[in-house]
Amino acid sequence: MNMNTITKILTDKKRQGTPISMVTAYDYPVARIAAEAGVDVVLVGDSVGTNVLGYKSECEVTLDDMIHHLKAVRRGAPEACIMVDMPYGTADEPEKAYANAVALVDAGADIVKLEGWGEKKEIVMHLAAKGISVCAHIGYNAQYHGPKGRMFGKEAAGALELIESARALEQAGAIMLIAEKIPVEIAEIITARLSIPVIGIGSGIECDGQVLVFHDVVGLGWRTFRHARQYTDIRTDISNAVSSYINEINSHAFPSEEHSWHLPKAILNEVQQKLSER
Ligand code: KIV
Repeated sequence: MNMNTITKILTDKKRQGTPISMVTAYDYPVARIAAEAGVDVVLVGDSVGTNVLGYKSECEVTLDDMIHHLKAVRRGAPEACIMVDMPYGTADEPEKAYANAVALVDAGADIVKLEGWGEKKEIVMHLAAKGISVCAHIGYNAQYHGPKGRMFGKEAAGALELIESARALEQAGAIMLIAEKIPVEIAEIITARLSIPVIGIGSGIECDGQVLVFHDVVGLGWRTFRHARQYTDIRTDISNAVSSYINEINSHAFPSEEHSWHLPKAILNEVQQKLSER
């Protein structure tokens, strides 16, 4: 889908009050499942680091990691709107950010996402001027605030900083905003003041849409979060399936006849005859 169409679909949804859905995907099968389920935006988040790669922090994720996972996601969801995180340290300086954003677009991204609140306003402006679609990310930013998520904007000064950052990022040319872990009331003010879609995570129902990490939606991780709803318990299902498989190997219940192929008697006789002649 071309970027003008994507932007129009998403801003139309905001205008009409139709919620926008977004979920992370880091590989081919999940991207395919999410796209077939009809999600509006697939996010290749740098949360791939902690959820899939076993890193201790999102800050360990490299551009090559993102490109590798992004390509798999694009193969799984060829028609979807795909957004990708610019990992830590790849968007600190305008020209470097542009070169890295181009690498992500070439690997299949429609939109690149930048953490760093209003601090990233010049970078957003530079990328937008060069034709890159950018989503900004305010509130809790794992790249800058450590792996343990906390609320932002609980005091008046912090709340005002969020509101001003959001406005500055929209003016700089961001086409979308993620608001993570901010009070519902502040998310509502930001959503009402911006004309670009505001997607919340842990920021309440008043945002234009919601994003969650796939592992939290299906229960594939080891932690639970207050901001997320777990819709199934896939880790227990997987664990039970693998235990059953091991038990059936040990008890000779697997493989059975239905999983096996036999040789016709005449060929078997021929093989045995030839073996005995050797
Ligand atoms: O990396 C990620 O998964 C994200 C979401 C939490 C929005 O940035």
